[in-house]
Amino acid sequence: MADGKSADEFWIFGYGSLVWRPDFPYRHRRPAYVEGWVRRFWQGSTDHRGVPGAPGRVVTLLPGQNAICWGMAYDIGGPDLDATLAHLDYREKGGYSVERMRLCFPSGDGRGEVEFAQVYFAQVYIGSPDNPNYLGPADPAHIARQIRESRGPSGPNDEYVLRLADALRDIGADDPHVFEIEALLRRG
Ligand code: SIN
Repeated sequence: MADGKSADEFWIFGYGSLVWRPDFPYRHRRPAYVEGWVRRFWQGSTDHRGVPGAPGRVVTLLPGQNAICWGMAYDIGGPDLDATLAHLDYREKGGYSVERMRLCFPSGDGRGEVEFAQVYFAQVYIGSPDNPNYLGPADPAHIARQIRESRGPSGPNDEYVLRLADALRDIGADDPHVFEIEALLRRG
């Protein structure tokens, strides 16, 4: 298409494990952010980073005034779309539901400007406060302790945090909440 956007594009936006563990086919990926949302380790995980009765903590998005949340956008359009969505729905079944959000792509010229010529929307998995695995806020020391003690079928909970923090640094993204929990975990 003339504007560079193909008719069958389908974007998903990852802000947690989807940033650093894309176990699905995609055609392109680009760092991106969503406006009006903050990332918090307030979602319980009983199927990946914890078990029933001893949940780990993973991230979800909460509405936040003037907030932005950086992550990775993937174009999963094309012949694999239905199978990829089914895979993602299964992977994110532990309390996450689907939202649609406007994506912001910084331009590639290093000046941090956002491409406004084209409007992009993405499917995003969020754990809203009414889902059964939602844990909600806790002080950072409590969150770090719970994460340090948890593990599930996908591995230790601290791996989730450390890999997310590394992936955010790789794309030049700041997130004080993630980096605070990371620092507490690294301190041991
Ligand atoms: C996401 O990464 O976008 C959702 C949360 C997760 O799977 O960690």
